[in-house]
Amino acid sequence: MPLMKTSKVPFPISAGAVLLLSLSSSAVWSQDEKVDFEKQLWPILERSCVKCHKAPHEENGRTVKPKAGLRMDGAWAIKMGSENGAVLTPGNAEDSELWWRTDLPEDDDDFMPPTGKADPLSAEEKALFKKWIDQGADFGEWVGNLEGKPKEVSNAGDKMPVSEIQELYQSLGNGLDPLKEEAWKDITSAGGRVMPLAADSPLLSVDFRLVREEADDAKVASISSVGDHIAQLDLSKTAVTDAGLAPVAELPRLVKLNLSETAVSDAALDPVSGLENLRYLNLYGTQVTDAGLKKLAGLKSLENLYLWQSKVTDKGVKQLQKALPDTRISWK
Ligand code: HEC
Repeated sequence: MPLMKTSKVPFPISAGAVLLLSLSSSAVWSQDEKVDFEKQLWPILERSCVKCHKAPHEENGRTVKPKAGLRMDGAWAIKMGSENGAVLTPGNAEDSELWWRTDLPEDDDDFMPPTGKADPLSAEEKALFKKWIDQGADFGEWVGNLEGKPKEVSNAGDKMPVSEIQELYQSLGNGLDPLKEEAWKDITSAGGRVMPLAADSPLLSVDFRLVREEADDAKVASISSVGDHIAQLDLSKTAVTDAGLAPVAELPRLVKLNLSETAVSDAALDPVSGLENLRYLNLYGTQVTDAGLKKLAGLKSLENLYLWQSKVTDKGVKQLQKALPDTRISWK
């Protein structure tokens, strides 16, 4: 039966065509297939993230808390976010701190996992992580660790309790219209990055991390164009000076301000002293002295103040702590 034998080689096909066929079919597969969180993504997060972002546990007799209050060992916990609010915007990876932190240059201070502390995500893993979020961040059947979950939250993390900070952002955003990208083009052309705090929030987070020391006072002045909307401002490692901080006084909704590793000194705190909603102020590595701290005494809303490697003394910090008994002051 000669016909049967030849039928094993149905038609001649070149190696190139085989390659093309298999490539295109795998591309189609990866486009359409829904990412399975538990099978595909969880092993990556477990390897690279969870050791620092999990339930409080004992290590050498000390309780170790999850970094930044962010737990990644349960679906409900990932949805709840960190002490600073949500880190995941289902459907929008670019807007999800959980993802973009892994996609920064590895030498960026905010890169996750911190360099040298765990395996970074490969390009394929980042793409998979991004796809999972863009597809809606469905955890499927995976629940993870339920220890420490607030009662009112379901195992899947639905009906999230709104944290105090999220409530603050919500109330600050009330009545404010969301802006279009066009509105902040002055900031982007000055090298700044602008991101809405969440997909449906009119509030913005602004940083100059991509340009750092090239961001001088003139560039920083671009923030005024959307001043009403800025809730988070990161000027760390920029070339901003005391004079350049004047526009900060016109940011009524500012909650977080990072001035670390800049040359700013006491005079820079004049525009800061009137920020009623400020919860977080980072003055690490600045020239601020005890005289500057006095200007902060009226900031009753301040929750976290960082003063490492500034010029303050024990005495100045003690005095400020008296005026602001509820503020967590970190300085040595
Ligand atoms: C070696 C410990 C360590 C590992 C591993 C680690 N992180 Fe972090 N993470 C931290 C620390 C410390 C902070 C707080 C400082 C900061 O914000 O950079 C943090 C903060 C974060 C934040 C910001 C939370 C907020 O709202 O302030 C996110 C998001 C985050 N990590 C995601 C990840 C992801 C995703 C991974 C894995 C790819 C990861 N981390 C791995 C230590 C770690």
